[in-house]
Amino acid sequence: MYASLKSIGAYVPEKKLTNLDFEKMVDTTDAWIQQRTGIKERYIAGEDETTSDLATKAAALAIERSGLELSDIDGIICATITPDFFCMPSTACVVADKLGIKYVTAFDISAACSGFVYAMSMAKAFIESGMKKNVLIIGAEKMSSIVDYSDRATCVLFGDGAGAAVISATEDKKKAILDVKTSADGEYQDFLITAGGGSKNPCSQHVLNEKMQYLKMKGNETFKLAVNTLTKDVFEILDDNKLTSNDIDWFVPHQANYRIINAVAKKLKMDEDKVVLTVAGYGNTSAASIPMAINKWYEEGKLKDGELMLLDTFGGGLTWGSALVHFNA
Ligand code: UT7
Repeated sequence: MYASLKSIGAYVPEKKLTNLDFEKMVDTTDAWIQQRTGIKERYIAGEDETTSDLATKAAALAIERSGLELSDIDGIICATITPDFFCMPSTACVVADKLGIKYVTAFDISAACSGFVYAMSMAKAFIESGMKKNVLIIGAEKMSSIVDYSDRATCVLFGDGAGAAVISATEDKKKAILDVKTSADGEYQDFLITAGGGSKNPCSQHVLNEKMQYLKMKGNETFKLAVNTLTKDVFEILDDNKLTSNDIDWFVPHQANYRIINAVAKKLKMDEDKVVLTVAGYGNTSAASIPMAINKWYEEGKLKDGELMLLDTFGGGLTWGSALVHFNA
């Protein structure tokens, strides 16, 4: 029994923020943002729109495209660092309720930008062990809720959105998720951090005064580690599966920065036409970035049934992961 990606869906909020909008908010320029990151615009959720709202829309589309009934879904894993509620209930439980799915295993995972690949590895394990048949995995973020819009070093980078996939059992290896690898190194926990609000620095006036509820990033250090780790990661998963970049139809990296993606793709000797790029239009949407990218390629008719994707991701924790996934429309 194999696990397979049966369908994909995504949701992008309506409000767009362009680089020119940021020129009016902080000391930055469209040229700097494009040159250093490749980002041109990103979408921001409405004030009343929550992460679960974005997730529910993406999930509903993925389930509709899977041809399954809501009652067929026996697991929901939501990867997010911007849950609706700080401790409980989990965003997965809220999404289950909004979709009308009852009596289902539902929980969130926190692996930052690597969350969707982590969720995929768990869904694969659930299915291959026979514990579950159809697991809904979601990457959803309202990054605008933890971004400090006066900090030019981070605010221009992130966007909101959600992507979801249904992972189901199959006996056909040509439809399988061939492999998923996940890893972490807590030594670099301060490279990407929201320091306030947890048990270390519970919510207080001090936390608010010091703006500790917002995301902080050591951008340059993270950049260097990202290139090295992502490159090592993709070579490892290809070698382990006796594949080369020539066997890959689409390289789907985490969409944080065009320069990181380009550096890894070059080391992989990946044909430019095979690199899925959405960072210009969406910015960095953390756990949502990979499923949003897959969905965009699918909706644009570029991603075809049976094609093999190589996913590669990196994020706070630090966490990272890669996956070899056949696409099944
Ligand atoms: O998704 C999770 C993983 N995250 C990532 O992978 C992100 C990794 N990091 C990056 O993508 C890049 O490091 C950034 C895009 C965040 C920054 O690019 P950089 O080339 O590493 O720039 P830098 O941080 O070294 O900053 C260079 C200069 C600094 O000025 P000085 O000190 O040289 O005078 C910054 O203050 O650019 C300045 N700067 C800006 N200037 C205009 C930083 N942000 C901005 C800005 N506009 N928005």
